[in-house]
Amino acid sequence: MRHLMNPLDFTVEELETLFALANDIEAHPDKYAHACEGKKLATCFYEPSTRTRLSFESAMLGLGGQVLGFSDAGSSSASKGESVSDTIRVISCFADICAMRHPKEGAPMVAAGRSSIPVINAGDGGHQHPTQTLTDLLTIRSLKGRLDHFTIGLCGDLKFGRTVHSLINALVRYPGIHFTFISPPELRVPDYITDLLREKKIPYNEVIRLEACLPELDLLYMTRVQRERFFNEEDYVRLKDFYILDKNKLSLARKDMLILHPLPRVNEISVEVDDDPRAVYFKQVQYGVYVRMALILTLLDIHVD
Ligand code: NCD
Repeated sequence: MRHLMNPLDFTVEELETLFALANDIEAHPDKYAHACEGKKLATCFYEPSTRTRLSFESAMLGLGGQVLGFSDAGSSSASKGESVSDTIRVISCFADICAMRHPKEGAPMVAAGRSSIPVINAGDGGHQHPTQTLTDLLTIRSLKGRLDHFTIGLCGDLKFGRTVHSLINALVRYPGIHFTFISPPELRVPDYITDLLREKKIPYNEVIRLEACLPELDLLYMTRVQRERFFNEEDYVRLKDFYILDKNKLSLARKDMLILHPLPRVNEISVEVDDDPRAVYFKQVQYGVYVRMALILTLLDIHVD
């Protein structure tokens, strides 16, 4: 049985197969509409989320399966003191596969160790968010036709943003990637990531001003400042509007640069940018459903001819 904790749990070849499946689902949704009939997905969300949870639910419903679950810790037995290990053993009796989000780093991994059904990490604290990464990779691959030889700018909260950590982790396996980290000094990418890049001899640079590097970027990954992971509100207020991508700044960028964002957006991309063909963050949401459909089929070992 397989789980998904980290984007590296799949080899590059396995990811290629997964993305090809996701693209086939996109092209022929009807073919897959009954693939998960009789199967149930449990969404165990100990931390608020709308898009990720609904994306999983939409994916399972699109495959003809059913969904059950809870969407905050207060409405689960966690509020009575139950451990995730016990919860997953119980959930294993109710469902065939589980997507779990938890504020504590490593909690879905603990659950997977006790589970008799596949567990998908749907975000654990500031650590990893592998299905967002699969979404990001599928979006780039579908719109650019490749996952190698890019200069990618990651902008915003690079310290607490788990989507950023997961995406870097996944991209280091592709050749010709150059990272540009754009953040205020307080929200720099963690040292363990820059250590890894140096060790692997993967080029990166760190800048504070977005305008300084925009013309060189093939991809721009914007993120919000992660308010819920700050220790004090003052710091958050000081940093929250550090970057605002507007039409004016965007005029510095390449005509074929893609703008991605895991959403939710706060102020970091001005709404006037939404109509620009380079803004693909809403398409990205749609790719998120296709890639979760492909993931559910893969982890349940269901094949559709
Ligand atoms: C992200 C997350 O939860 O980490 N959202 C998402 O799943 N699309 C990004 C965020 O909350 O900023």
